[in-house]
Amino acid sequence: KKKKKKKKKKKKKKKAYYFSIILLLKIITKMEKQFDRYLVTAALIYANGPVHIGHLAGAYIPADIYVCYLRSQGKEVIFVSGTDEHGVPITIKARDAKRPPQEIVDTYHMMIEKSFYQFGLTFDVYARTSSYTHHRTSEDFFTTLYKKKAFEEKITEQYYDPVAKQFLADRYIVGTCPHCKNENAYGDQCEKCGSTLNPSDLLNPRSTLSGEKPVLRKTKNWYLPLEKYQERIEKYLESHKEWKINVLGQCKSWLTQGLQSRSMTRDLDWGVKVPLPDAEGKVLYVWFDAPIGYISATKELIPSDWEKFWKDPKTKLVHFIGKDNIVFHTIIFPAMLIEHGGYILPDNVPANEFMNLEGQKISTSRNWAVWLHEYLIDFKGKQDVLRYVLTANAPETKDSDFSWKDFQTKNNSELVGILGNFVNRTFVLVHKYFEGVVPSFEELQEKDKEVLLSLQKLISKIEVSIENFKFRDALSFFMDIPRLGNKYLTETEPWKEIDTDTERVKTILNIAIQITATLHITAKPFLPNTASKISQMLAIPPKKWTYLKNLPELIEPEHTIDQPFILFEKIEDEMIEKQLQKLELSKKNHPPTNPQNTTTPPIKSNIPYEEFEKMDIRIATVLECEKVPKSEKLLRFLLDTGLDKRTVVSGIASYYNPSELIGKQVVLLANLTPRKIMGIESHGMILSAEDKNKTLKLIQPKTETNPGATIG
Ligand code: 2FM
Ligand code: ZN
Repeated sequence: KKKKKKKKKKKKKKKAYYFSIILLLKIITKMEKQFDRYLVTAALIYANGPVHIGHLAGAYIPADIYVCYLRSQGKEVIFVSGTDEHGVPITIKARDAKRPPQEIVDTYHMMIEKSFYQFGLTFDVYARTSSYTHHRTSEDFFTTLYKKKAFEEKITEQYYDPVAKQFLADRYIVGTCPHCKNENAYGDQCEKCGSTLNPSDLLNPRSTLSGEKPVLRKTKNWYLPLEKYQERIEKYLESHKEWKINVLGQCKSWLTQGLQSRSMTRDLDWGVKVPLPDAEGKVLYVWFDAPIGYISATKELIPSDWEKFWKDPKTKLVHFIGKDNIVFHTIIFPAMLIEHGGYILPDNVPANEFMNLEGQKISTSRNWAVWLHEYLIDFKGKQDVLRYVLTANAPETKDSDFSWKDFQTKNNSELVGILGNFVNRTFVLVHKYFEGVVPSFEELQEKDKEVLLSLQKLISKIEVSIENFKFRDALSFFMDIPRLGNKYLTETEPWKEIDTDTERVKTILNIAIQITATLHITAKPFLPNTASKISQMLAIPPKKWTYLKNLPELIEPEHTIDQPFILFEKIEDEMIEKQLQKLELSKKNHPPTNPQNTTTPPIKSNIPYEEFEKMDIRIATVLECEKVPKSEKLLRFLLDTGLDKRTVVSGIASYYNPSELIGKQVVLLANLTPRKIMGIESHGMILSAEDKNKTLKLIQPKTETNPGATIG
C-alpha cells in the first residue's frame, strides 16, 4: 500500500513538473489579444479552371492547417470558402469554350469542390457566388453604401471594342505593363510583376476579344473614393504591425502612392446586377462582390447566427489568400466594411507568394501545372504526401518551387525514412518484447527526462509557429518529434538492454509510445490521414490538442496497441518519370514564344584570387523599395546589411514591382565606391543575373539568411 502511495505521489510530482514548464512556455509566447471565436476564409477561387498545386500551397493548405489546429484546441471556428463565379475570367473562359458562363461555373464549381473534398480540406461551407443568398447579400451591401452616399457617380471614357461591341474591363484588355514592360499585362493586373492596374495604365492597349485597338467611349459607373479612407486604412494597418512583411509591403506601396477612386461597377452582362434603376447592363465589380462572398457563405452555413462571426469584435477574422489578392483584402474590402459599418475588420491576412513548378511559373494556358484532380488519380491515397511537400516548400516569404524529384525525396527520406520509420520501430518493438501491451515504467533516467522536455518544447514551438502563420516552421518542428524519437531509440538501444534489464526497456518503450501518441495529435493539422492511421494503430479514439497536457501519460500502461501498418510507401522513379513526361509534353505543345537567339557571353580573362577577395559580398534585406521618380529603370532600395542601413540604386525597375521586393533578401556588393545615380548616392550594387533574353533576375538566397552574411 505504501509503495502504491509513493508511486502515486511520484506520478503527481512528475505531472506537476511538466505542467509548470508548459505553462511557462505558453505565458512567454502568447501574450496577445484573446478571441472568443474564429472565422477563417480561404480565397474564393475563380470557377474557370481546375485546382492546381499553386492554389493549394498559396491559400488552402495553410488555411486548413490553421483551422484543424484551432478545432483541435477546442476553439469555436468556422472555415469558409467557395467559388468566385463572376468577373471577366469566367466570361472569357465561356467565350473560349463557346459555352454559356452558367455552364462553365457549374462545371468547375462541381469539379473544384469534388477535388477539394477528395483532398480532405475541411471547409464548413463551400459556397458559390452565383447563389441566391450571395446575390441578395451583395445587392444589399451595395444599396447600403449607395444610401450612405459612399459612391461617386462618374461618367468617364473607357476603352470600348467597336467590333465586339463591348466595353473592355479588366481582362478583356491587354497591353504593355508600365512597370515591367510585360507585353501581355491585363487591364486589372500584370501577372509578371504582380502590379494592380487600370486599363488606362496599359501602354499599347488591345482588345482580347477582337485583337483590335480599342476606342474610348463614355459610360457611367459608381466609384468608391478610396482616398477618403486613406487615414482610416493607415490607422488600421498601423495596428497590425504583426502582419507578414510581404503583405504590409504591398499595402504600404498603395498607401504611399495615395489611394485612388475605384469603380465598383462594370459594363458587363455577367455578375450581380447593379441594384439601381438607371444601371441597365451593369454589374457589380467582381472584387466588390467576391469578398462579400465570405459573408454570404457564412449566412448559408448559419442563417440565424452568422452575425456573431462578422459583427462581434471578439471574433478573429483571418483571410488566407495568394499575393495577387492582397490589396483587395487589406484595403478595398476593409474600406467597404468600414463604410457599411457594424462589421469587424480582418485581423490578419497571411498571404503567400507564388509556387513555381520545376523552375517555371505555373500556367494554365501552357498546361504547366500539377492539377489536383490528376494527382488524386495518379497518387491515390497519397493526399498527405502532397500536403507535406507543399507545406515544407510553402511560398511563405518568397516564391518557392515544386519539383517532382524533391517530392520523391521528401516522401522517401522524410515521411518514410523519419516519420514512418519511428512509428514502425516503436510498434514492432512493443509487439516483440511485450506482445503489444504498453509497458509501465518506474524510474526516469536523465535521458528520459531530457527527451520528454524536448518533446514538450517542440509541441510549444509548433503551437507558436501555427499561431503566427509560420507553417513551414511548424511542420519542421513537427518532424523534429520523430527525429527525436529515432535518436532516443538509437541511443537507448532497447534491443541490447532487453537481455539484461527488462525494466529499462519498459521505460524506453513506454516513452516511445508516448511520443507516438503526441504524433497522432500533432500530425492532425499537417497530415490528417496519417494522424488517423496512428490513432487506429494505437487503438485509441483520436484525441484533441488539449489532451497533450497529460504528457507524459497519454497512453496508460497495460493498454493493448494494434499491429503496425505502413504509413508511407516509397515512391519509385517510374512514378516520377511519368509526371516529368507529362510536363515535357506540355513544353512540346506550348513552345515559348519569341525565343531570342542571343548567345551566352564568353568567360572573361582570369583574375588572381586576391582580386576576388577584395570584394565584400553580403546578404541584405530589403526594408524599402520604390521607383526613382522620372526614371524608367531605376529602383531605390533601403537595405539592412546587418551592420548598417543604406541606400542602393539598382536598374531593375523593368523587371520587378517595388512592393514585391520589400522583405526579400538580395545579394549586395557592399564595398563598391559610392556613386551618384540620378542624384541619389548609391552605396553598393545589388547583384542580378542577366539571362539569354536580356532579362535581369535578382540573385536571392534560397533560404532566409541573416543580413550581413558574407558570400565568398
Ligand atoms: O484570384 C482569385 O481566384 C479570386 N477569385 C479570389 C477571390 S477571393 C475573395 F475575395 F473572394
Ligand atoms: Zn508588370
